[in-house]
Amino acid sequence: MRLSVLFSAEEIAARIRALAGEIAATSERDLLVVPILTGSFIFAADLLRALHETGLAPEMDFISLSSYGTGQKSSGEVQILHDTELRIEGRDVLLIDDILESGRTLARAKDMMMARGAARVRSCVLLDKPGKLAVKIKADFTGFACPDRFVVGYGLDDAHAWRQLPFVGYLEN
Ligand code: IMP
Ligand code: MG
Repeated sequence: MRLSVLFSAEEIAARIRALAGEIAATSERDLLVVPILTGSFIFAADLLRALHETGLAPEMDFISLSSYGTGQKSSGEVQILHDTELRIEGRDVLLIDDILESGRTLARAKDMMMARGAARVRSCVLLDKPGKLAVKIKADFTGFACPDRFVVGYGLDDAHAWRQLPFVGYLEN
């Protein structure tokens, strides 16, 4: 088994600085950043600090959604494992996810925030796997287009392994 680098730590860091600039240029003062756990935790931590560099002072709260279990194929059902605690009503919410595939996770999170009266809900994903959408949704901010293969690292897992890698890569036999 060989691990190949798809997006290096340096490429990711540069892309996050650019994303933070785009987000800052269009954000309200009362920004609430909501990472969707678990896969987005490293991306969210780096993006939050990049947002700080732009002069923003966002608050952060977390939701944990799961559609995968330990398989590599989406089960189609999105479960809420942990919910937010901060006020959502009237706020400018930015959802953060690691990767957009079927779109079910992001769609579910967006519905939850809208139902709680968010003033605006936008989303930022590190990776977008084109051609896999099962629901109609588009991220407002995207890091990279991702080739159609199962990727790991920088927070993304395969059955809970590989999250610790500083880059995004894939396993080859
Ligand atoms: P969606 O609900 O199908 O859009 O899937 C989004 C979730 O599936 C992500 O938050 C990831 O946790 C997981 N996922 C989708 N593709 C991959 C992959 O290539 N590697 C690791 N996790 C993935
Ligand atoms: Mg996952």
